[in-house]
Amino acid sequence: MAKIVITGASGVLGSAIYRALKTTNHAVIGLANSRAQGGLSKIDLTDQSAIQDFLRESKPDWVIHCAAERRPDVAEKDPDGAQRLNAEVPGHLASLAKDLGFTLIYISTDYVFDGTAPPYGPASQTNPLQLYGKSKRDGENAVSSVAGAKIAILRVPVLYGPAPHNSDSAVNILLDIVQDQSGKQYKMDHYATRSEQAAAFNNSIIAGTNPSRNMRYSNPPTGPGATSRPKDCHLSTKETEDLDIPGGLGLSLFEEWWAVHLGKQ
Ligand SMILES: NC(=O)c1ccc[n+]([C@@H]2O[C@H](COP(=O)([O-])OP(=O)(O)OC[C@H]3O[C@@H](n4cnc5c(N)ncnc54)[C@H](OP(=O)(O)O)[C@@H]3O)[C@@H](O)[C@H]2O)c1
Repeated sequence: MAKIVITGASGVLGSAIYRALKTTNHAVIGLANSRAQGGLSKIDLTDQSAIQDFLRESKPDWVIHCAAERRPDVAEKDPDGAQRLNAEVPGHLASLAKDLGFTLIYISTDYVFDGTAPPYGPASQTNPLQLYGKSKRDGENAVSSVAGAKIAILRVPVLYGPAPHNSDSAVNILLDIVQDQSGKQYKMDHYATRSEQAAAFNNSIIAGTNPSRNMRYSNPPTGPGATSRPKDCHLSTKETEDLDIPGGLGLSLFEEWWAVHLGKQ
């Protein structure tokens, strides 16, 4: 049995991992900040002494670091805050991983790439197009630069799944938009090409997919608040598959998952 701390356990990814690991015999602690409910502990990760004291006390074997500012437009409006949370916090966690002996899993993003040369593997050249991607790339560099720390970086593409609110996911939010029959006009783009790559944690889907495969000739998003986004960040999953995880990666395809999920509603 291992002791596992999950940061960002009130978010889309962290809540799915938290739920999944809670069904195992591991000791699981979920951390949150503004939404610390339902058994989650409140810690502001930018408070270095608070997280240090907590980890010294709780002595985890693993820390799965999901907390981040992952909204590119919000990051753009608060560059210092985004850099602090997305780059400095992971660097600090990596130093603590070294000092306290736990293994750190740092969740990163396909947005560290510019989307011009897919598929991307672990060694591909990063070239983020916007501040969010740069801050996550800096987070990758910060954790990698702590010699002697046990760390893994896991890059994930756009997420969907049983999110706390549909608006928490760039995919789920389409449900709210389609279901809004008020006549309100929404402006959406279908610029990015998504790839069929999905991972499931006990049926809680964390995934990227390809709903826009036939629409790849659309223009990049423009207008006030538009952030530069990569065109095609298809991530190669070869190295992950080569790990030969018992039971496989638990792949679950976009249409199949949504059919079941919507059938339940
Ligand atoms: N969403 C995507 O499509 C996507 C795509 C690629 C990669 N990723 C990466 O996947 C990871 C998880 O993303 P997500 O979509 O699950 O994020 P999310 O739903 O926006 O959740 C963010 C989490 O971070 C926590 N957090 C924010 N500021 C904090 C602070 N100062 N101290 C402690 N916790 C703080 C939030 O806690 P409270 O809500 O309690 O404040 C929340 O639990 C991130 O690393 C992101 O970069 C996401």
